[in-house]
Amino acid sequence: MEITNVSEYEAIAKQKLPKMAFDYYASGAEDQWSLAENRNAFSRILFRPRILIDVSKIDMATTVLGFKISMPIMIAPTAFQKMAHPEGEYATARAASAAGTIMTLSSWATSSVEEVASTGPGIRFFQLYVYKDRHVVAQLVRRAERAGFKAIALTVDTPRLGRREADIKNRFTLPPFLTLKNFEGLDLGKMDKANDSGLASYVAGQIDRSLSWKDVKWLQTITQLPILVKGVLTAEDARLAVQAGAAGIIVSNHGARQLDYVPATIMALEEVVKAAQGRVPVFLDGGVRRGTDVFKALALGASGIFIGRPVLYSLAAEGEAGVRKVLQMLREEFELTMALSGCRSLKEITRDHIVTDWDIPQPPRPFPRL
Ligand code: FNR
Repeated sequence: MEITNVSEYEAIAKQKLPKMAFDYYASGAEDQWSLAENRNAFSRILFRPRILIDVSKIDMATTVLGFKISMPIMIAPTAFQKMAHPEGEYATARAASAAGTIMTLSSWATSSVEEVASTGPGIRFFQLYVYKDRHVVAQLVRRAERAGFKAIALTVDTPRLGRREADIKNRFTLPPFLTLKNFEGLDLGKMDKANDSGLASYVAGQIDRSLSWKDVKWLQTITQLPILVKGVLTAEDARLAVQAGAAGIIVSNHGARQLDYVPATIMALEEVVKAAQGRVPVFLDGGVRRGTDVFKALALGASGIFIGRPVLYSLAAEGEAGVRKVLQMLREEFELTMALSGCRSLKEITRDHIVTDWDIPQPPRPFPRL
């Protein structure tokens, strides 16, 4: 069957992958309310397209932290990509590079920073989980820097792992032939089988629950790389991130895998953008599956978006070719959305090109609208 949109890869991945792997990729936390909401919320935003504008040339290029990329669509960090395909993170890195965009490599990749760097040129960010042992963190950051990674995406929403019930039922653990490659030499590369999600136990043992804003400052003492704070959902934290010296903010709810009943990221975006006051760029991830979603995020003030699960599902289905296709389909849909809305460049996309259901006055309700 011909694939005509990004979402179609999910069913193929489900057929191809062992249940434990697919469930790990697909799961959200607890009731998975936020997981559905990450998608549903996009349908509460409609377009106000402008007509009779010459859209014979569309420019989607942009700059992120000073790096020129071909489009505002980038790759979020997702763990254990070799569970999806033997080439795992290599395939993702090559596909991102071919599309002229940024890949973020997870701390918990099944390929090391050096291995991913060896796939060839490309602009790459490194996602950091802060371990209790700060020597481990310092060493890893130094390795990422040396391997040519251009920024650190510091994940701040995971002092403990969210409760993903499929992983608990499956007693999720990595297949024996895979390791957390970045930590192999540090004796932290193996995830033991537990009477629970093996990853939840690993996080409880190794990840620093005491992480706080002062550590964002500490990170700046051990690296020159710009730091993106990944996992901001409120104006309060956006202001603190700017104060702490962040170079950018990623509005993310971790693909709805951490705290359930947080709002969809597209609902939280505007509040964060306003609080950032243009002092740092704001990015978004969570539920982006269409070019129209990308446009809506930019209209609400995002400088770009990241995709997570579509990469894993397309990797499982077709390896590098699948990830290339996902990036290409999103690119083409986004270009079409721009043309049909009357926007020729990213700076022409404005808040007036959309209307949200929270723009329309509503009768009082017992609870605030989300
Ligand atoms: C993630 N995410 C994630 N984030 C992070 O900072 N480090 C990580 O190692 C991972 N690993 C991971 C694995 C899997 C299977 C998923 C689905 C997600 C979160 C990820 O970076 C991103 O926030 C979401 O995936 C974005 O939502 P979508 O595009 O998956 O809906």
